[in-house]
Amino acid sequence: SLNKKGYHYRNWNTDDPTPHGETYAQLYKSIPFLIAIKNNEASGIFFDNHFESHFDMGKENSNYYYFGAKDGNLDYYFIYGPEVSKVVNEYTNLTGKTPLPQLWTLGYQQCRWSYAPEQRALEIAKTFREKNIPCDTIYLDIDYMDDFRVFTWDNKKFKNPKAFTDELKSMGFKVVTIIDPGVKVDKGYKIYDEGLKNGYFATDKDGMVYKNTVWPGDSVFPDFMNSQVRKWWGNNQKIMFNLGIAGIWNDMNEPASFNGPLPEDIVFNNDGTLVTHKEIHNVYGHMMDKATYEGIKEATNKRPFVVKRACYAGTQKYSTVWTGDNQSTWEHLRMSLPMLMNIGLSGMAFCGTDVGGFGFDCTGELLSRWMQVGTFTPLFRNHSTIGSREQEPWAFDEITEEINKKYIKLRYKFIPYLYDMMHKCEKTAPIIRPLLYNYQNDKKTYEINDEFMFGDNVLVSPVVEQGARQKLVYLPKGNSWIDYWIGEEFEGGQYIIKDAPLDICPIYIKTMSIISNGEDVNYIGEKDTECLNLSIYLCDKKGEGKYIAYNDDGESFDYKNGRFNEYEFIFDLNDNLNIKMNKNIGYENKYKSIEFTLHNFKNNKKVLFNENEVKLNNNKFKVNL
Ligand code: GLC
Repeated sequence: SLNKKGYHYRNWNTDDPTPHGETYAQLYKSIPFLIAIKNNEASGIFFDNHFESHFDMGKENSNYYYFGAKDGNLDYYFIYGPEVSKVVNEYTNLTGKTPLPQLWTLGYQQCRWSYAPEQRALEIAKTFREKNIPCDTIYLDIDYMDDFRVFTWDNKKFKNPKAFTDELKSMGFKVVTIIDPGVKVDKGYKIYDEGLKNGYFATDKDGMVYKNTVWPGDSVFPDFMNSQVRKWWGNNQKIMFNLGIAGIWNDMNEPASFNGPLPEDIVFNNDGTLVTHKEIHNVYGHMMDKATYEGIKEATNKRPFVVKRACYAGTQKYSTVWTGDNQSTWEHLRMSLPMLMNIGLSGMAFCGTDVGGFGFDCTGELLSRWMQVGTFTPLFRNHSTIGSREQEPWAFDEITEEINKKYIKLRYKFIPYLYDMMHKCEKTAPIIRPLLYNYQNDKKTYEINDEFMFGDNVLVSPVVEQGARQKLVYLPKGNSWIDYWIGEEFEGGQYIIKDAPLDICPIYIKTMSIISNGEDVNYIGEKDTECLNLSIYLCDKKGEGKYIAYNDDGESFDYKNGRFNEYEFIFDLNDNLNIKMNKNIGYENKYKSIEFTLHNFKNNKKVLFNENEVKLNNNKFKVNL
């Protein structure tokens, strides 16, 4: 939940496969950062200590909170707001921002343990195209590997990996493969031999290479504290990228182990300083991501896409995070909302859950509701475990398929807005935020766990209860809101009951705001978009608004050297509606025109664009650039 008062957390990255409940005090991620609001003033404490640490928010005694660690330095930062948004911004100034991702990573992603052999993966991809359900990415889970040896392929299941990724590419798909840290103990296996020869694996206190059991059986653990090892691991990414892989899914990097936990005294070499597992456990995954990110960047010169499970403060710099092995239960759908909001407040803007739930069997109704949430999470990935009921958008009945298709298409409509928000958040903010982030003066927002802001302008209040066909929605005070489905305006500062049949997820757009819309496509980049399509949501009264529509090549780092466009819109509604645009062009002009659609517009007003009156057609008008 958002409010941690009365709880105690142990920060020690943990892979616990049993179904997580609210009683769990330690999770996959350890981010020793606390935000408090007292008398409407927010402040934060970031305790930069990656030993096992504890935060007790008045569980021991309701008169005080405390934090502490088993070892290490008492090294903490106190951050004063008074706005929560400022605390988060300062915290990410310290630990790092979520970088702008490649555009395709914002599309819908399909995963399962496992799409193997290759015929199965191709069949899934073809079904998306036949059914006209958009999808950008297919994942390969551990079964693509040769007996779980990382950086290898099972050539019986995948005869020619390059031909396979090429075929998917020709259909508009990207392929992301899983990589685990555990390296199979196997003489003659290149990765193992190289690592062993160079002393790249963690050892026990007597200097013997330490072994535990993971998917490949006996396995050893790369010493990611060592920059040589990171370089080596980073270089190994080329093995995958040369075969046409577009992103890496780093899993099991708590590190998880099946034969008891790694002992505290396992030794790592932090570039000359010997450190123990006790000290570096919580940053092991973080350093693996750093290696992966840097390796992919060097290999491709594109913005690396790394998805990962175990995190420490700052992991947002290198990777996208998912919440780990959830279950196909209503409880886990419900819990995913505050979890994602908390991840957002912890500086990790690019986040998501396994849509539909990983363990256990999903149902059509649960998947429909989960897809509605996934539409508005930056990482939109459906994933399920081996042996569970299939969970692709069409795996249930026709009604479920229709609903899933409707929401996946809606996601693509919101992608330009999401990309604009990701660009903005590279400088400042999370995408998924609790309402209090934008509406701190409205105390009623503080404990809302079942709705969230999707960027600055969209409020989503999904249904997360089985059988519910209505939703109690709170609209925060400070502006009015437009019901996305019926176009009606509601004042902020009130609760409303929204009818929400199975195909309706309550969505509200902030008035005097703009949403940048995407086209109807099967995948990102399918069509060359020449018209910037903007919806302006107006209000009954007077008001003003501002929006920046951003674009660049969607993949490289060239935007950092000025190869991007920003179209800034400033508009005010008074006796007339006045819209002004300022262009900041540093890149070839992608758009030839802009089409505006006015929502909630009262027709007796004139519309001026850059001081010239324009004629409306069905509340729309177009300007050429
Ligand atoms: C872990 C991951 C899960 C993956 C599985 C097999 O449980 O969290 O997503 O499917 O391992 O690789």
